Amino acid sequence: MSVLEKLNATDAIALEDKFGAHNYHPLPVVLAKGEGVYVWDTEGKKYYDFLSAYSAVNQGHCHPKIINALVQQAQTLTLTSRAFYNDKLGQYEQFVTQYFGFDKVLPMNTGAEAVETAIKLCRKWAYERKGIAEQEAQIIVCENNFHGRTTTIISFSNDENARKNFGPYTAGFIKIPYDDIDALKKALTLSKNIAGFLIEPIQGEAGVYVPQEGYLAKAKQLCEEHNVLFIADEVQTGIARTGKLLAVHHENVQPDILILGKALSGGAYPVSAVLANDDIMTVIKPGQHGSTFGGNPIAAAVAIAALEVVTEENLAKNAERLGELFREKMNDYIEYSSIVNLVRGKGLLNAIVINDTEDSSTAWDICLELAQNGLLAKPTHGNIIRFAPPLVMNEEQLLECVDIITHTLKAFEK
Ligand SMILES: Cc1ncc(COP(=O)(O)O)c(C=O)c1O
Repeated sequence: MSVLEKLNATDAIALEDKFGAHNYHPLPVVLAKGEGVYVWDTEGKKYYDFLSAYSAVNQGHCHPKIINALVQQAQTLTLTSRAFYNDKLGQYEQFVTQYFGFDKVLPMNTGAEAVETAIKLCRKWAYERKGIAEQEAQIIVCENNFHGRTTTIISFSNDENARKNFGPYTAGFIKIPYDDIDALKKALTLSKNIAGFLIEPIQGEAGVYVPQEGYLAKAKQLCEEHNVLFIADEVQTGIARTGKLLAVHHENVQPDILILGKALSGGAYPVSAVLANDDIMTVIKPGQHGSTFGGNPIAAAVAIAALEVVTEENLAKNAERLGELFREKMNDYIEYSSIVNLVRGKGLLNAIVINDTEDSSTAWDICLELAQNGLLAKPTHGNIIRFAPPLVMNEEQLLECVDIITHTLKAFEK
């Protein structure tokens, strides 16, 4: 069989099942094409994509401007390694730092790598600038966090499925409840060795938990008072997803370290980044961190185009407006629903909570039925369904999606 042969859905699933590691549990839908807010399966059935590759495809599938940048750069120069300069990286670094308001950027590829980078940066800053004794630095993290799947990151996760039998774990993390300012205050005063506070401004993977208004601003202020770095993981919430360029902007917070990934490339290429000002970033010297692909010319060209699309198409404003409409329509439905308890979110990062236990299959069954009806979404944590369509959606499309969702839910009402 040629690797370019077109496969039907059954064969494609069978191949993944036999030859791929079973580290995901996908819905039985085999996608073959994407454009804007839509994806198509191998049989040509069209769906609204309500997951957007976990918020990587904010600019819509195969955005022509991003794909054009990708193709042009791919035909010119793909990778030189950081052993040499390339003519795209500096331009991108200037562009992305000005775009987000920082002095410097450290380019990586995936979200987890960027989180790892931020942790290393924070620790080095703590030893060399704050004066914490070597090996003693602690970083405060939140319960139910999701920052990726590397060994260090799962060390401070409390998802037993993600942790079990992957030890020994990396030390140096203190876990506190999310959205609890008193817990943060207490943790900051417990020790002189706190280097940073790592937080998702909205906990996406945990089920789209939005903290109380004022929490992020207060947390940032407390960090400043204790000379502790406020590290925002905006891999999922960033790049216009929540109705602002960054979710921390809802509370006018500028993090000390900003972590980006996913939509930094509009889903066209793995691009992630860590941004910080000179007083922090200059602790990293040659040989102390890096990646073969980090800052390659394709990534640089693609990320510039992806960020230009966010501005040119006003994606933050669109996400804010359509998000409000979505929650309003869902709340209208929930008022009379026995199957959905609530809808929550910001911008176009939303979730509904299904009125059933976490170990029930109801949310999964609803997602199967949604797929039948032409809309793709996936449960997170059993009874929660996340809804995160591309931000290039228009109002008419959103209302059609609300119809599909409510029509599907009706069949599950008790
Ligand atoms: C907040 C957050 N951080 C980090 C990551 C990890 O990103 P990646 O899967 O690209 O490693 C994710 C992925 O979902 C995420 O949501």
